[in-house]
Amino acid sequence: MSVKKEKNGVNFIILVVAISIGYAILRYQIKGDVPWKDLPVFILNKGISLAAITLLSLCISIRPLSNLGVQLFSSRQAKKVLGISGLLLTIAHVLLSFLIFNPSYFSVFFEEDGTLSSKGSLSLLAGVVGFMLVIIYHHCFGGVRAGKEKLIKIVTSKKFILGLLLLFGLHLFFMGYSNWMLPSNWQGGLPPISLISFVVVFLGLGINISGR
Ligand code: HEM
Repeated sequence: MSVKKEKNGVNFIILVVAISIGYAILRYQIKGDVPWKDLPVFILNKGISLAAITLLSLCISIRPLSNLGVQLFSSRQAKKVLGISGLLLTIAHVLLSFLIFNPSYFSVFFEEDGTLSSKGSLSLLAGVVGFMLVIIYHHCFGGVRAGKEKLIKIVTSKKFILGLLLLFGLHLFFMGYSNWMLPSNWQGGLPPISLISFVVVFLGLGINISGR
């Protein structure tokens, strides 16, 4: 890939991260009531997770998009940069989530007695399995490819990719659906990040079903 193309890929990633974090600040702090002290972890985590899911969904949609006639970041290097950025942001999301994983921040994941709720458990299970699959996917394309042919065939199969997107969708659905259908509750009239992320995953599913 030319230096210019690589720069475009990096600029695109910076734009996605900036818009995602900006939206989190706008919705939850400027329009919402989350205190500014929560910007460095709680709010940043929301922006980072939206950017992660956007970049990962785009990364696995590049080839089907090109089959459908849309050429976007079609070089191998650009795809790699998107994938690695998505993986790093997901790792940051997982670490940040663990730091503040308690009922004061995430009441939806817990029962009143402090144990995990059933929707919290299902959401986390889908998140953890999805995270494992992202790591396996990354392992296939990092470093030497020789000897990984069988695994590469599996992780690029339609079933694997749709399964991955389904897990992302379940992670988001169980944590967020109770709030999605109540626009009157949305802070500043803006949709929650879990819903926006779900729409991104849904688009990814549509592209991969029709173009892979
Ligand atoms: C070990 C695995 C994971 C854990 C423990 C985890 C944990 C969490 C938690 C606690 C939240 C709620 C955040 C909040 O409302 O502020 C969340 C939301 C989210 N997660 Fe994960 N997650 C995991 C994996 C993933 C993966 C693989 C992705 C895909 C890139 C992902 C994407 C998201 C997104 C987009 C949100 C929505 C943020 C929001 O609505 O605020 N997560 N996750």
